[in-house]
Amino acid sequence: MSRFQYHIFMCTNERSADDPKGSCTAKGSARLQELFKSEVKRRGLQGDVRANKAGCLDACEHGPTVVVYPDAVWYRVATEADVLEVMDRHIGRGEVVDRLLIPFATQPKPA
Ligand code: FES
Repeated sequence: MSRFQYHIFMCTNERSADDPKGSCTAKGSARLQELFKSEVKRRGLQGDVRANKAGCLDACEHGPTVVVYPDAVWYRVATEADVLEVMDRHIGRGEVVDRLLIPFATQPKPA
């Protein structure tokens, strides 16, 4: 049994501006990760949902990258509206947000 119902990992890796891989932080991920964290708190979900910073998740070209466990669903979350939609639909109702899926892997659906 897992400790949290959901664990939201957002890449906040940072690379130098001239690195060809780029980084999620350069695309605003640090600010968006803070929004995930504050939304967990605002919705009273502490204890059930954890929003953590992650290092590079090896999906740099798709980022800002988020993965939600235990569902192992990968998202590109680029705006505040994207964060709120993941919180409302995936975390709130167990729905996968199809429009934000990163297309590099088979995406399992929550049970
Ligand atoms: S820098 Fe974010 S996935 Fe690699």
